[in-house]
Amino acid sequence: MAKAPDHPPYFNISPDTALADLGPAVTTDDFAHAADMAGQGRDDLIRRGLNAEGQKTLRRFSTWEITKYLIPVATPHFRRVLKANRDLPQGHSDSEAGAKWFTLDEVLRLRAFFAAEGSKTKEYLPYRPKGLPAKIAAVANFKGGVGKTSTAAHLAMSAALDGYRVLVIDLDSQGSMTSIFGGRVADEWQTVFPLLARDYAENLQAENRARMGRGDPPLPLDDMLAAALKLRSQDLIQTTHWPNIDLLGAQLNLYWAEFQVPVWRMQLKGWKLWDGLANRLTADGVLDDYDLVLLDTPPALGYLTINGLSAADILLIPLGASFLEFDSTGRFFDMLHATFGSIEEGENLAARALGTPELRFEWDAVRAVVTRFDAAQQMELANLMQAYITPFMSPYRQDYTALVGQAGEQVAGIYEADYRDFNRETYIRGRETFDATYAAFKRLLIGAWRRDELASDAEGAA
Ligand SMILES: Nc1ncnc2c1ncn2[C@@H]1O[C@H](COP(=O)(O)OP(=O)(O)OP(=O)(O)O)[C@@H](O)[C@H]1O
Ligand SMILES: [Mg+2]
Repeated sequence: MAKAPDHPPYFNISPDTALADLGPAVTTDDFAHAADMAGQGRDDLIRRGLNAEGQKTLRRFSTWEITKYLIPVATPHFRRVLKANRDLPQGHSDSEAGAKWFTLDEVLRLRAFFAAEGSKTKEYLPYRPKGLPAKIAAVANFKGGVGKTSTAAHLAMSAALDGYRVLVIDLDSQGSMTSIFGGRVADEWQTVFPLLARDYAENLQAENRARMGRGDPPLPLDDMLAAALKLRSQDLIQTTHWPNIDLLGAQLNLYWAEFQVPVWRMQLKGWKLWDGLANRLTADGVLDDYDLVLLDTPPALGYLTINGLSAADILLIPLGASFLEFDSTGRFFDMLHATFGSIEEGENLAARALGTPELRFEWDAVRAVVTRFDAAQQMELANLMQAYITPFMSPYRQDYTALVGQAGEQVAGIYEADYRDFNRETYIRGRETFDATYAAFKRLLIGAWRRDELASDAEGAA
């Protein structure tokens, strides 16, 4: 018998069968139902990763991992030092002869001990010039799904493992970064929103003082602004399951800022709407409390992203080595130029007239970083991208790492995963990928700090 011709699946669909499968038309209320069901599923998944107190917990780190990745000492020496100093953390093990595992808090104590007592030629503590503020790094691209959050989260964790004190700020109302760090954010009052509101309110107060002087009626300062005036960054920052990573979180209502900020600006033309976040972080002393502030931004160049980019010293722009992501990233540079250029132009018109200093945005470093790189398929395109946008392109490429997507609801990415759960080769390769992402970033960080340090030394000497 002749074999029936093999038709593609879009032939011969019966309209009546299609109708039977279709279901009723969808209304707005159905979205509420879908959101509710998804919310329940999400909570269920999250609960599985929490301890009895309903908190995320961080795994322990083994002697192997500590001496290989975290503290530059040979394992036998590490063991000898612990034996000789019984008041140091001794680690935990499942059996008498079993491997010793340490909490990150304990690792940080051990690192401090080696830094104080160990060889001066080894880097136990990462470089951080004294007296200079924390560096702020933003990860941004208006293209969605390019690896912004994954890159920012991994950088936060590797910097923390390296011994830096890290603050993560989530500017994306999707709140992915907040979920990764187990943040609890009830509404927009626990996000950066009140910081922007406070900056606006302080400008409004200054304007009203000037108006009083001129005998003009004051502009209204509503209850929301009055409430914001009482809040400092520290009131909004929460601790996480990482001892040296804190979080200023986000949730859906943060999106409200995108509507509110332009309204405020309409009311007070002189308000520098791009500066609110940087102003508050500086005024509240946040930059003295941490070494590194990492900003995750939404896939848009809205007011929150503009605040993030204007606050940032270092800007990383992740993109995949595909034509569409390359094309879109080119447009993102265009938008950056148009947006920040028009802010400068607007300000400098007045500055030139008044003879005051002109506004010029400046970043220590801006780098496009190829993410999810597959050398077997994408080498040619990545090289071409590199050739076109050098020097903005980081020579480093972040390999596609199956572990990142797989990590699941309990652990976010490679640093939270227990290597015993994976094939050792796969683990080591994945870890190398993100260690290299961090190394490339740390070079920018340290270089930028060093430039500031030399400038401030020169200023001191003058
Ligand atoms: N190096 C990598 N290897 C494999 N998968 C990756 C890698 N980096 C990111 N991913 C995956 O790509 C997807 C998008 O990543 P991510 O959420 O970080 O992007 P994003 O730019 O923050 O997205 P959005 O624009 O929605 O904020 C995720 O499923 C993530 O697990
Ligand atoms: Mg994201």
